[in-house]
Amino acid sequence: MKIYVFGLREDEIEPLNQWKAANTDVDVEYTADILTEDTANLAKGADGVVALQTQPYSRKALEIIHDLGISKFSVRNVGLDGFNFKDLNDFGFTLTYVPVYSPNAIAEHASFLVGRLLRRVPEFDKKFQSGNFKWFPTIGTEISGKTVGVIGTGHIGSVFARIMKFGYGANVIAYDIDPNPALENLGIYVDTLDELLEKSDIISIHTPLAPKDHHMLDANAIAKMKNGVYLINCARGGLLDNQALIDGLDSGKIAGAGLDVLENENGIFQNEFDSIEAVDDEVFQNLAHRDNVIITPHTAFYTERAVHNMIFDSMNDNKAMISGKKAKNIVDTHK
Ligand SMILES: NC(=O)c1ccc[n+]([C@@H]2O[C@H](COP(=O)([O-])OP(=O)(O)OC[C@H]3O[C@@H](n4cnc5c(N)ncnc54)[C@H](O)[C@@H]3O)[C@@H](O)[C@H]2O)c1
Repeated sequence: MKIYVFGLREDEIEPLNQWKAANTDVDVEYTADILTEDTANLAKGADGVVALQTQPYSRKALEIIHDLGISKFSVRNVGLDGFNFKDLNDFGFTLTYVPVYSPNAIAEHASFLVGRLLRRVPEFDKKFQSGNFKWFPTIGTEISGKTVGVIGTGHIGSVFARIMKFGYGANVIAYDIDPNPALENLGIYVDTLDELLEKSDIISIHTPLAPKDHHMLDANAIAKMKNGVYLINCARGGLLDNQALIDGLDSGKIAGAGLDVLENENGIFQNEFDSIEAVDDEVFQNLAHRDNVIITPHTAFYTERAVHNMIFDSMNDNKAMISGKKAKNIVDTHK
């Protein structure tokens, strides 16, 4: 049995080797190249394909994989927006994904963004670099006692809510269109998004980006928030309207923002530039130069545990499908 892996990053080689050592009956080959119509033929002779990329999976590339006799396709991540499901169905693929690889990785990262913003770490870092070790005027505020609003309380939001409530002693409130039974006993749910927006000192969003939720946090929503609110987005860039965010920061309505995702992040994150100034993107330039905005390049998930789980779960599922066994995380591409 052979599995071909596309788009393997350097940091994924070690966990892949660990998986190979535990699955000596499987022949594994890989490339750092992503799956395109130019690279698809590398999978020749394989029974299954495992991939990960931010660029779309083209119909032509999928057709070539299909023509190689491969129908078992696994991705190492949760996002499926790179696929046109019709293409997958036309070519008879069965697709698996990794819906949960480490909610703690993202929840912890979101909590660090809150802490770094409230204790004005970017300003202290700048002062430190210039030899200024004075406290004044860079006084911080505490999370304890603040009202933290969590939008979306699934795998990640629920961990974030617990960290904020039990770790920091924040007054946590939450809004979810489908409240999480595991959190019901905490009594944190409010009935409407508006109520959360109006009451929170800090708001962190952890919902998927459904088309209806594009710019869920727009100028209208921001207008309902408290003056001096802090916003955290470790979910998807499209949930937050960049222009409304910039206007809110300019007016002081928003005291700070921690952003692990940006609507326009493709082409910026996962690339290396000579400097921040070399990034040809007005919104990025505007946000990146503010002391009260912290941008991390979609690294919230990026921990050893998460990468290990992405490799193991995707490889296990691909192997299961090839062996005619039940895979754990099959995607319903027909809905
Ligand atoms: N930054 C990163 O590295 C990273 C990594 C993984 C996931 N993510 C993102 O984190 C987000 C959350 O992921 P998850 O695994 O916790 O998802 P999940 O499906 O487990 O939970 C999402 C929750 O949001 C709720 N929800 C959906 N639409 C809503 C709405 N309009 N209003 C209120 N609640 C709503 C759902 O009911 C659910 O409880 C996703 O956007 C995902 O893409 C980011």
